[in-house]
Formats: sequence, structure tokens, C-alpha cells
Amino acid sequence: MLKLTYLISVITVFFGICASLSIPENTENTVNEKFLDDPKYLNYDELTNLFKQLESEYPNLVHLTSAGKSVRNRELWALEINANVQNRSLLTPMFKYVANMHGDESLGRQLMVYLALYLIKNYGKDERVTKLVNTTDIYIMPSMNPDGFENSEEGLCESKPKYVGRENENGKDLNRDFPDQFEPTRIGTILSGRQPETVSMITWIISRPFVLSGNLHGGAVVASYPYDNSNTKRHCCKESKSPDNELFKTLALTYSQPHPLMRDGKACKNDNFDRGITNGAFWYELQGGMQDFNYIHSNCFEVTFELSCCKYPEAKTLPQEWYNNKESLLRYIESTHWGVKGLVTDTKGEPVLDADVVVTGINHNITTSNRGEYWRLLLPGQYEMYASAFGFLPSDKTFVTVTAGHTEIQNFQLNRIPQENVKGNGKTAGLSQKESNWYWKN
Ligand SMILES: *[C@@H]1O[C@H](CO)[C@@H](O)[C@H](O)[C@H]1NC(C)=O
Ligand SMILES: *[C@@H]1O[C@H](CO)[C@@H](O)[C@H](O)[C@H]1NC(C)=O
Ligand SMILES: *[C@@H]1O[C@H](CO)[C@@H](O)[C@H](O)[C@H]1NC(C)=O
Ligand SMILES: [Zn+2]
Repeated sequence: MLKLTYLISVITVFFGICASLSIPENTENTVNEKFLDDPKYLNYDELTNLFKQLESEYPNLVHLTSAGKSVRNRELWALEINANVQNRSLLTPMFKYVANMHGDESLGRQLMVYLALYLIKNYGKDERVTKLVNTTDIYIMPSMNPDGFENSEEGLCESKPKYVGRENENGKDLNRDFPDQFEPTRIGTILSGRQPETVSMITWIISRPFVLSGNLHGGAVVASYPYDNSNTKRHCCKESKSPDNELFKTLALTYSQPHPLMRDGKACKNDNFDRGITNGAFWYELQGGMQDFNYIHSNCFEVTFELSCCKYPEAKTLPQEWYNNKESLLRYIESTHWGVKGLVTDTKGEPVLDADVVVTGINHNITTSNRGEYWRLLLPGQYEMYASAFGFLPSDKTFVTVTAGHTEIQNFQLNRIPQENVKGNGKTAGLSQKESNWYWKN
């Protein structure tokens, strides 16, 4: 039985991947890509103006938000794009792209501008875009390190001396500044000593129910998935697998396969990545990265995409780079809809917050949002699931079959345990389950 289920899931995973890799009908005739006519990188002021203008032109589709400020008081802009942007509909999943945390890795930053324009200008015209924007709450952050970008120089393929531009204004590498899974974390010290950009991102990530994320870098061409380190402090060359390793591999392939250079894994000198993907720690280990932080401390799954050998390629390459990445960028957003989603409620139909949604055999829970929603990314196959929350009896276990290209809905109803029988004080007041786990670790 176990073996048969396994075989079925292997087969469905295989066909699921094949199905998702076929290139859709060419929609080139209907799409508007005028933004490529005069390719140039937008600086902070130009980006700010464009985003404000888009928000005022498309108030029902676009909402300009900021995750916080940089050292030099620049906003970490994130453009939210969704057909219900004023009020996310129940169970619409949230997606984010974050680019340019290394300020001199600039290609992803400008591709985010193009992606935003592409989604906005083609909404209601192109069916695929319309469907994506109808069903997904998309956040696009072109720069998490706007100060570093202003200190960088177009055409420089490597970082400047002392990593000026890569690092933030205080000379800190933001992709080493997040709480690490192997670092002891104590209550009250999580944010202290961290850079303003990092503090903003930590707060933003843990306070919103993001489901999936892409973290865009440069200096290589590969999709790199968690974990980025192990507890052995080696330099490289051994995988550090998360409980969702197979899913992460497939997510990484979703980006690498449609990319004409990434999929071969040999785009840059000395590169040799199998199918254009790698486990982060297998490639090289790093402490305090954002990718693992997302997975360990929130419900969001993040994969890192390295987009160009040259960190800050000349602007004339931008149209070609847009075409190289466009299909990957769209397909990766579409994968936000893989797996199972639903509501966890009590017997009166009220949402249960911070409930654990458990998948047997995967040692990584998802917790419900403050509206009782959950999204569990899963590959095609059959899974046993249940929900559990403090003060409630766990739900019955139920089997759910996940198929490719379709989101399964599975709701759970929980029975409250009579108050006098509830022992202990549960979780820390005001903190989500993930956060309280994190605060009390060590
Ligand atoms: C937002 O939508 C939900 C249902 O999806 C509704 O219950 C709520 O009242 C709405 N809030 C606002 C401010 O419109
Ligand atoms: C998108 O949503 C609008 C408004 O609900 C609807 O009219 C349209 O058919 C949807 N289009 C697609 C492709 O989902
Ligand atoms: C997942 O949730 C269940 C039920 O609350 C709990 O017993 C288990 O320890 C949790 N697993 C992890 C990895 O947090
Ligand atoms: Zn980088």
C-alpha cells in the first residue's frame, strides 16, 4: 500500500512536471511590451515616480506599499498587484519577488519593473496575465537595498572594492544579516543589532501570510534552494535538505527550465549546475540568509534565483534578459497555486488563528492566517493531513489528493476543549505560532 502510493505519487509528479513545462501558446500578439523600447535602469527617484504614477492610474489593480526604510531613508517599495487590491479576497494566496538585496546585482531589479508593467498593462487583454492577477496577490519589490544600488555602477560585472554597492550604506551584507537557524535566538533580541533593511524585512515577512517568494540575485545563473547551511560549518559540497526538499527542487526547476541559459547550468565560467539548480549549502554555505529565514520563521517558501554572470550588465542587454526570464518569472508565480488550501474554523464557523496544518511525513507545519486561511504547497500525490490548535481537539486525519495544475480545497473544523480542561498558557500573547516557536527556541 505504502509502496503503491509512493509509486503513484512518483508517476504523478513526473507527469505533473512534464505538463507544467510545455510552453503555452504564443501570446506575443496580444501583449504590450513597449517598455522595452528604451532600455535603461531606473534609479530610486525614477522608480518611485513610476510606481506612484501606476498606483494613481490603476487604483483598482495596483497598491504601492513599503516594507520600511533603508539607512538613507529610502523606501523599500513593494508594488502590490491584484484584481482585488483594496481587500484581498479570502484564500487568495500572496506571492512576492524581492530583488537587489545585494545593491550591485541589478538585473533582477529592472526585470521587476518590467514584470510589474507587463502584468498591469496586459491585465484584461492577455488571458494568462488576467487569470494570474485575478487569483494571486502579487508583491513586487525591485530593491531591498536602494542605497547600495545608488552606490553601484552600470557595466561593472564584479563588486567594487570593499563591496561598496553590494552591501548597505553601513557596509553590511544584508544576506548575512537574518536570524540563522543554528543561531541561538532569545526573546527581545531578534531584531537588535540588525540593519534597518533587515528589521523591515523580518517584520514584513512574519506579519503577512506570504506563500511563495523569489529572491533575485546576480553573479551566477542558477536557481538555489534551501537550506543554505548546515550545523557543521563546512564550506560546501554537501546538501543540507529541508523537509520540503523535493518540492523546493521542483520549484527551482520551474524557474530554470524555461530559461534558455539557466537550464543548461553552464552559463558562466566554471559553472556546472545539473539542470540549472542547486541546493544552497551544496554550492556554498552561508549564515544568516533571507531564503532560509522565510522557510523557517514564516509560512513562506523562498527560492533564490541568480540571473546573470555579470552583476550589473549594460542596459542594452535588458530586452534580451527580459525575454530569457519572462516565462520563468510567470511560471514561478503560477506555482503559488500548487497543493492544498482551505479554512480552519471552529464549530460556529469562526476562524481559528495560528492553527497548525500538518502533513504526515513532512516535518514542517503551516499555520493559519488571522482569517483562518492556510495554503500548503505540495507536489502531486496523496497526502494525509490534519489541523490542530491550542485549546481545540485535533481534527480527524484526512487523505487529500493533489493533482497538477489545480488547487485542492480542504477545510478543517475544530472542536473547542472545555475551558477547565485546558492546561498551560499556550502560546505567547500576540505572537503567531511560528514566532513563538522562534522566540522560545533555546
Ligand atoms: C474584505 O473582504 C472580506 C471578505 O472577503 C469582507 O468580509 C470584509 O468586510 C472586507 N473588508 C473591507 C474593508 O471591505
Ligand atoms: C478575471 O476576473 C474578472 C472579474 O471577476 C472576470 O470578469 C474575468 O473573466 C476573469 N478572467 C480570467 C481570465 O480569469
Ligand atoms: C506540527 O504540529 C503538530 C500539531 O500541533 C505538532 O505536534 C508538531 O510538533 C508540529 N511540528 C513541527 C515541526 O513544528
Ligand atoms: Zn547576491
